[in-house]
Amino acid sequence: MSDPTAAFADYEREATAALAAAATPDDLEAARIEFLGKKQGRLRDLQKSLGSVPKEDKPAVGKAFNEVKTRVQAALDARQAELESARAGAAVDALDVTLPGRAPHRIGAVHPLTRTIAEFKGILGRLGFTAVDGPEVEDERHNFNALNIPDDHPARDPLENFYLSAASVGKGEGPLLLRSQTSTVQIRVMEQTPPPVRVISIGRVYRPDTIDATHHCQFHQMEGLMVGEGVTMAHLKTVLTLFCRAYLGEGTKVRFRPSFFPFTEPSVEADALWHGAGTGDGGAEGRWLELGGAGMVDPNVLEAVGYDPEKVSGFAFGFGMERFCMMRHGISDIRLLTENDVRFLRQFG
Ligand code: DAH
Repeated sequence: MSDPTAAFADYEREATAALAAAATPDDLEAARIEFLGKKQGRLRDLQKSLGSVPKEDKPAVGKAFNEVKTRVQAALDARQAELESARAGAAVDALDVTLPGRAPHRIGAVHPLTRTIAEFKGILGRLGFTAVDGPEVEDERHNFNALNIPDDHPARDPLENFYLSAASVGKGEGPLLLRSQTSTVQIRVMEQTPPPVRVISIGRVYRPDTIDATHHCQFHQMEGLMVGEGVTMAHLKTVLTLFCRAYLGEGTKVRFRPSFFPFTEPSVEADALWHGAGTGDGGAEGRWLELGGAGMVDPNVLEAVGYDPEKVSGFAFGFGMERFCMMRHGISDIRLLTENDVRFLRQFG
């Protein structure tokens, strides 16, 4: 028999050449079967030929065989890795992210509530009110105590509020809750700013209400606050009337009905007589729309923030935002505002 190690060298040369030449996974698989197949093929033939090697040569020849086999296997693995990375590279090249998309771009629409918020800020900004923000997670001082809301007031009932029991532990400020009203911001502003102040704050509030077409556990309020020397209820009525005329149309009338809020004295509910200017229709007679609560800031609130109620006075108001937005855009269900159904949102494009 010829020298088997010479056959090893031929085998190795041809195998590595075939593997290197394989340009596709299929080529590579064919080369693998030919040169490394377990049941048949060149390696199997070589292995069979080992049977005729003289006994004393067997250890050396067997070792040489194993080494050749290991190297050819390594060449296969290396070529396989090369082909895979070339394929991944080709996929990246095929996707040119700098090209413009094929589908026409859809231009988004401003959410109707965002529009209403922007309009309110615009109108009240022109009346000299600066828009400010406050935190949505609040302590009891800002949500209740400083607003003159007594400990036994039903609005403080844990069932009427979202208390954050875990987050409240160890904070040293008493329990925290998701604010139930934006009146909290009145306190935050007055704590930090000496009078006069003239601000609005529009933001989310949270109450565990059962959700239906007109109620939600999260909604928006606009809080207004004006404090200074000689501020009276006439100013309140003027500001609300000017606001309503700008938003609902010229000639809109505003009326006050007596009410009660712990943080205002006297307190009112404000309504606007709307004749359907803008979109929608208030009818020839018009109809009274509830704006929300308002009143003259209670002296206890002024004292709670370190203001002198003998020197300054002020008014405040708090309106729900969703009602205005829904009325303006003819939206019949408050849930539509948060469901984010694109069929709904596209209508405002
Ligand atoms: N915070 C009140 C509420 O959520 C609304 C309100 C009433 C705010 C009277 C005011 C106000 O500023 O003066 O029901």
